[in-house]
Amino acid sequence: MSISTSVSGPGELRMRMVGRLVDAGVIEDGPVAEAMRAVPRHEFVPDAELRAAYRDEAVVTHRDPDGIALSSASAPGIVGAMLRQLDVRAGHRVLEIGAGTGYNAALLDTLVGPDGTVTTVDILPEAVREARARLDATGHTTVRVVLGDGEFGDAAGGPYDRIIVTAGAWDVPASWAAQLAPDGLLVVPLRMRGLTRSVALRRRGDRWVSEDSAECGFVPIQGAGAVAERNIMLGESSVLLRFDDDRQVRKAALDEALDRPAHTRWTGVRPPRGEATLDFWLMTLPGFCRVILMDAAFERGLPRALNAWGSMGAVQAGTFAYLTARGQGDARELGVCAVGADGAGLAEGVAERVRAWDAERDSRARIEVHPHGGAPENARWTIDKRHEQVSVILEP
Ligand SMILES: C[S@@+](CC[C@H](N)C(=O)[O-])C[C@H]1O[C@@H](n2cnc3c(N)ncnc32)[C@H](O)[C@@H]1O
Repeated sequence: MSISTSVSGPGELRMRMVGRLVDAGVIEDGPVAEAMRAVPRHEFVPDAELRAAYRDEAVVTHRDPDGIALSSASAPGIVGAMLRQLDVRAGHRVLEIGAGTGYNAALLDTLVGPDGTVTTVDILPEAVREARARLDATGHTTVRVVLGDGEFGDAAGGPYDRIIVTAGAWDVPASWAAQLAPDGLLVVPLRMRGLTRSVALRRRGDRWVSEDSAECGFVPIQGAGAVAERNIMLGESSVLLRFDDDRQVRKAALDEALDRPAHTRWTGVRPPRGEATLDFWLMTLPGFCRVILMDAAFERGLPRALNAWGSMGAVQAGTFAYLTARGQGDARELGVCAVGADGAGLAEGVAERVRAWDAERDSRARIEVHPHGGAPENARWTIDKRHEQVSVILEP
């Protein structure tokens, strides 16, 4: 009896990757899928193993001296989802902020065809060099790769029909509005108190109004628009708390938290499915943050967070809390695990917010980015930014 082993080549791996994204409904079997079938992702991440290049995972290409990711090829699922939001047509002029490996620029070049143009900007000289080399090697020689700070766009190639930002933006600078053609679309991963949504925005008068939003995570934007995230690691690499904005949290108060027992409060609420607004409800809790559990946390007996990458949560004085879940299928239930001096109190406080969300769980979030003081009347929550404010409106 002979055993045959099949070794998949890049072409086959690519077809399968696109097939999975289409089957999962991330992209339609249309131009974006065609472009993803045509562009060899592995040539843009030559240091990654071939199979890894075609998994739905980001490939980090540059880190800072502390090991924090500065640049990566984003996971194909989010690349596809953002291109779907961007609705690029043949002949469009497109600006990308965050050239990274050049992969997305190659997809954009494929989508705009010979009558369109693509300009991609990166702030990291190594990324610009690598993107240029890989775009040339794969035949995308007409893409302009520019070294610069995307906060200021790139007026030379504009006005643009589409602008896509592929780093987590804390704000929406005026240059993007100035360089976008009337009725153009801006797709940007917008950071709102630590949660990130890829938002498709259209300009309406003095404001941006969202047409679609999708959950995502991105390396934060650098340069003039940078707002550093603050990381607090607890218990010898057990739990990482990540804060956006400038909220004041004292690490010293949390140092003893992990020495106390964990309290889990079950909510009787089913976890969200797909694009949901739960994170927005939690966003306005005092001490709102992202809670990422490391392996050492499980060794300490903490229950898993709602998502493998962590969950949204909150810190109050010497206690932190995060979402967890139990059960299977329709019996799955959300819980809140809180650890620290007031575990029971914080767990109940967050659980109350989860129940409040449940009463409006089917609503959809619309986002408006507008001048200070210009929040729409029906805004549920409004967050201050440097240049503008961001309002979240819940619609049935
Ligand atoms: C997730 S990577 C982009 C992935 C890329 N689109 C691809 O297809 O590989 C984010 C990139 O944004 C860049 N970046 C961060 N801040 C920037 C800024 N202010 N202007 C331009 N690029 C920036 C980073 O250097 C990094 O290369």
